[in-house]
Amino acid sequence: MIVPTYNERGNIDEIVRRVSDACRGGGIDVEILIVDDNSPDGTGSRAEELGRQYPVKAIHRAGKLGLSSAVIEGYAAAKGDVLVVMDADLSHPPEKIPEMVSLIQSGNARMVIGSRYVKGGGVEDWPFHRRLVSKGATILSRGLTKVKDPMSGFFAVNREVVEGVELNPVGYKIGLEIIVKGRHEGMVAEVPIRFANRKVGSSKLGGYEMLRYIDHVSMLYEHRHFWLGKYLKFAFIGGIGALINLAVLWLAHEVFFVYYLWAATIAFVVADTNNYIWNRLWTFKSKAKIQFQYFQFLVVSVAGLLLNLLLLWLLVDNALPALDVEMDKASLLLLGSQVVAIFIVSLFNFGANSLWTFRKDTKRAP
Ligand code: GDD
Ligand code: MN
Repeated sequence: MIVPTYNERGNIDEIVRRVSDACRGGGIDVEILIVDDNSPDGTGSRAEELGRQYPVKAIHRAGKLGLSSAVIEGYAAAKGDVLVVMDADLSHPPEKIPEMVSLIQSGNARMVIGSRYVKGGGVEDWPFHRRLVSKGATILSRGLTKVKDPMSGFFAVNREVVEGVELNPVGYKIGLEIIVKGRHEGMVAEVPIRFANRKVGSSKLGGYEMLRYIDHVSMLYEHRHFWLGKYLKFAFIGGIGALINLAVLWLAHEVFFVYYLWAATIAFVVADTNNYIWNRLWTFKSKAKIQFQYFQFLVVSVAGLLLNLLLLWLLVDNALPALDVEMDKASLLLLGSQVVAIFIVSLFNFGANSLWTFRKDTKRAP
């Protein structure tokens, strides 16, 4: 059992007691590893004390190094054949452990996930925003796995699933990392759990962790489908760039009274510069000289803009009239055409930037 903790002093007594009871009931010889990041509230020393009475071993780390890396460190220290990870805050029912372990020991599964989103599972009155974040995160992972609850922090694996696998310690979602990279050979089972809200202490999942999640999930896409992963980053940045474009356009025109075509030009340059910076830092992680690369990026974007106009003209003035559509739908058709055009242009810009602007940075690692 690996239980990462950061300021969980008010919870670990109960979690340790319930885990050992559940394991005794299920005939499981358990070792509980509490991986504590030098919690200011003294969780670490409490874990030491519990070790006198229970099969608990405390692993102390110097400071808050993150949930995923705590799990990885727990894996390295664990002696068992079946490795289970769970939160310390009593959100996950320890009583499910025997069922999860036996699914692995019987050879029916190599990874078992305590799942909120299969029949019989659920969450305890979550506020709307938390449901939204959870759903949004799950949707982003849809291209990586069919598992219903890949975000779960409660899961068991056969030791071989993670042994020797290079796991990335970024962010919160070590379970998703293992689903994508682990050697489970598709033998992943989900058992329903009811996720209880923590009663003591507070969640460590903030806005920063959400950004890290976007970074993490895009790395996993790149791991699995290199170009798709890069393209999704590129498109994500482009989407934000479009919002910046609109904001600058509005500001220049409405607040500074700039002539609208000039305002649009300024908006284009500002948004495109933003896109360049993030693509350099994030999508392509480039170390090449900036000057010429920035110029290349601008050239590609201007070419993309011209391509956009050309596509729009081809669709609106040629393709659609040939299909003989009614003209009262014309404005919808214009928007529809632009959606198609933007998608094609994004592929063009992405391709040109990958093969030209950032060509040195898209050589795939072996
Ligand atoms: N050692 C260590 N270091 N432990 C940590 C750290 C850290 O930096 N950050 C968090 N933990 C521990 C907490 O003490 C807790 O036991 C567990 O990791 C989960 O942290 P919470 O702060 O309770 O996370 P959460 O409830 O928001 O998220 C949980 O549920 C999500 C599903 O909604 C986690 O299990 C997520 O992985 C899961 O996706
Ligand atoms: Mn929690």
